[in-house]
Amino acid sequence: MAEFTLPANSKVQSGKTWPAAEGATRKKVFKIYRYDPDSGDNPRLDAYEVDLDTCAPMVLDALIKIKNETDATLTFRRSCREGVCGSCAMNIDGTNTLACTKAIEDCRGEVKIYPLPHMPVIKDLVPDVSAVYAQLRLIEPWLKAETPPGARERLQSPQERAKLDGLWECILCFCCSTSCPSYWWNGDRYLGPAILLQAYRWIADSRDESTGARLDQLEDPFRLYRCHTIMNCTKTCPKSLNPARAIAEIKKLMVERR
Ligand code: SF4
Ligand code: SF4
Ligand code: FES
Repeated sequence: MAEFTLPANSKVQSGKTWPAAEGATRKKVFKIYRYDPDSGDNPRLDAYEVDLDTCAPMVLDALIKIKNETDATLTFRRSCREGVCGSCAMNIDGTNTLACTKAIEDCRGEVKIYPLPHMPVIKDLVPDVSAVYAQLRLIEPWLKAETPPGARERLQSPQERAKLDGLWECILCFCCSTSCPSYWWNGDRYLGPAILLQAYRWIADSRDESTGARLDQLEDPFRLYRCHTIMNCTKTCPKSLNPARAIAEIKKLMVERR
């Protein structure tokens, strides 16, 4: 039987324990992935005790409290704190989600926090998203139209505009792509659910005049057809979007134009 072992330097070790401040009344433990590729050390899980009576309600609030009061070296991305920018995406309690919209009280027991899976880690909870952004550039996520716009903006009917609902709300957090097994194994050639949803956002836009060229670009055994409808993407999307449906719509258009 084949035996698979991880490289010795990738094994996650147990790390330091950081106790809550003296007098803490309601303690919760956050076990957080720590990794600094430059150090040469293995990744480790540090345990931080947080007093919930002095912490705001979301997981991101706990991370900010830890960074401000306990361990300034803890590294993570965040910006809007409103579920809008997508930068605080990480794996919390086994699910890819946004730290700023995940309530601490929804996490039972110790809260385990890892970076988004299957992406290289720059440091701690910060994944390297340069490859997925290169894929985003490939699908040219902007309006492409040859017809001159005329005296005013390009108009849409309410029905045409409604076709973009469920697409424009994507915040490019990549929770979906990093939960997709097909993307884990073929992320260098398969575009993954986040990028395909973006591609469909422009294909579905009545003002765009590049539908044929956009479909040509996706007509490839890897870029589109590595989706096997496993549905992890739709299950995990913190904005309740349905990337699997967007992918299915692209496949339908491919069949219809044959
Ligand atoms: S439906 Fe497609 S894109 Fe979504 S998780 Fe499954 S294989 Fe990946
Ligand atoms: S579809 Fe959802 S999970 Fe995927 S990138 Fe957009 S907002 Fe994030
Ligand atoms: S900080 Fe912007 S989505 Fe969480």
